[in-house]
Amino acid sequence: MKTIFSGVQPTGTVTLGNYIGAFKQFTELQHEYDCRFCIVDQHAITVQQDPDELSKTIRSLAAIYIASGIDPEKSVLFIQSEVPAHVQAGWMMQCLSYIGELERMTQFKDKSAGKEGVSAGLLTYPPLMAADILIYNTDIVPVGEDQKQHVELTRDLAERFNKRYGDVLTIPEVRIPKNGARIKSLQDPLKKMSKSDPNKKGTISLLDEPKQIEKKIKSAVTDSDGIVKFDIAEKPGVSNLLTIESALSGVAIADLEAKYEGLGYGAFKAGVAETVIGHLSPLQDRYNELLHSPKLDDYLDLGAEKANAIASATLKKMEAAMGIGRRR
Ligand code: TYM
Repeated sequence: MKTIFSGVQPTGTVTLGNYIGAFKQFTELQHEYDCRFCIVDQHAITVQQDPDELSKTIRSLAAIYIASGIDPEKSVLFIQSEVPAHVQAGWMMQCLSYIGELERMTQFKDKSAGKEGVSAGLLTYPPLMAADILIYNTDIVPVGEDQKQHVELTRDLAERFNKRYGDVLTIPEVRIPKNGARIKSLQDPLKKMSKSDPNKKGTISLLDEPKQIEKKIKSAVTDSDGIVKFDIAEKPGVSNLLTIESALSGVAIADLEAKYEGLGYGAFKAGVAETVIGHLSPLQDRYNELLHSPKLDDYLDLGAEKANAIASATLKKMEAAMGIGRRR
């Protein structure tokens, strides 16, 4: 069976963008692949975090993975910092990376622009991400579009490693969802919906109450022509809402255009809100049941044990190939 790896950072609240771009794909893929899903807390500390908030968010993210449909007994669900091989292999990947290629990463440029005191970790974030993927002999990495460049770098690093030290690492492929690879902000449909957006009106959190969801969708920025039609260039706001409804309901965009024909934006937005709420309400119920349950810790313990076994075996092969440690 082919293997899948993906990760989500425990920062802020998980957005509808994360859900459509990542979690929804994960739950669909877990039946066909050997899946490993990670809470990447070491990536989160590349920018300063409040320690109490971070530990709460880690637990919350674990509950969100399961509430969105990941079966923790079938897929491996674990916390990055509980598997030391990530940073060990991450160091090797840093040593293979060139500073120039890391400085060219779009995410690094965005997150460091205009900031003073940018951490070295922000620059070496992608080699750690490469290690996350490579130590599980991953075939496929399902992510939203914003992570594509990092997965491409991962492929380059894996090829570089194999060329220098022998055929040890599997070269992974990226998998971007056809529909919803880049969900946009409701307030600025040219920007991606992001956990770190200070304008909370632009972002739907997976844990928002129905009333908040309704309000945010009602005030989503659209245009003034009143026609529900998919056209990214001319009608980015309407196209974003259509993408959201289509990704969640599974109804094709053309069928949604037909459904809303002649109805105007009021009815359109009410329909989108109903779909979002209908999808998120059962997820929120499962989340609330799990969050304080000791079962959640049992699942994470099980995940860490399985992840450590796979990752440490690959790490040993990488170390032997590079010649570090003792040859036995
Ligand atoms: P993160 O935590 O920012 O996002 C988690 C996942 O959500 C996707 N995503 C989106 N998809 C569609 N529309 C959006 N507006 C949107 N915003 C976010 C992201 O593409 C991602 O799939 N670097 C990664 C975490 C990571 C990782 C890994 C991922 C660390 N190691 C190894 C894959 C494999 C990140 O910051 O994701």
